[in-house]
Amino acid sequence: MIEGFIFDLDGVIVDTAKYHFLAWKRLANELGIPFTREDNERLKGVSRMRSLDIILKLGGHQISENEKEVLAKRKNIWYVDAISKITPAEILPGALPFIEQARERGIKIALGSASKNAITILDRLAIDTLFDVIISGNEVTQAKPDPEVFLKVAEALGLPPKTCVVFEDALAGIEAAHNGGMKCIGIGNKEILGNADFVVEGLNAISVDEVLALDYNKINTNKNLD
Ligand code: G6P
Ligand code: MG
Repeated sequence: MIEGFIFDLDGVIVDTAKYHFLAWKRLANELGIPFTREDNERLKGVSRMRSLDIILKLGGHQISENEKEVLAKRKNIWYVDAISKITPAEILPGALPFIEQARERGIKIALGSASKNAITILDRLAIDTLFDVIISGNEVTQAKPDPEVFLKVAEALGLPPKTCVVFEDALAGIEAAHNGGMKCIGIGNKEILGNADFVVEGLNAISVDEVLALDYNKINTNKNLD
């Protein structure tokens, strides 16, 4: 029985994934490293320092830990500047009604994000009260695909992992959910998020009842569902 829904933040509830991309792109340009939207898929859901490592590797750059700290800080300043201006208009279509519907059905609601800026974003959008539990990048040491963030959420909710469904827009996040023994709905493009149990374009494209009615055992052995 499904008892908890765990939401990633960037790219699932709020359209902040584009600001992460723009800030990383700006840094990559400065470093003379070619960086495409396709490369960016590998950064989604991944911690700040791990993302930087991926970009540096793309450019074949090797730099000291101190220099890495400086670059990560620069990227974060640009990113924080962008999110300081976000408005509720950037909440993704269907996200709020979906969460409210789930709450009404008695499902526990949590946030499991790799971002150290998660609380700033929730505050800015005044949506922190929607969640029973919030675990952000400040509370974890292991980046997705490690399941730490989702396991901490499940523990705080008091739920066994197998009763939780994770909503994720990132390959690393889907892997993290599965590594934690949870179900996972991919939010985005089916071609990219093939490792999810089920993929929808957004939370406006599925209802709570549909999520609860999915036969996850069947999906796991047959991912070619349309
Ligand atoms: C999210 C995003 C990633 C980002 C990570 C850390 O998971 O999908 O793109 O790198 O959080 O975010 P932060 O705000 O701490 O730099
Ligand atoms: Mg995300």
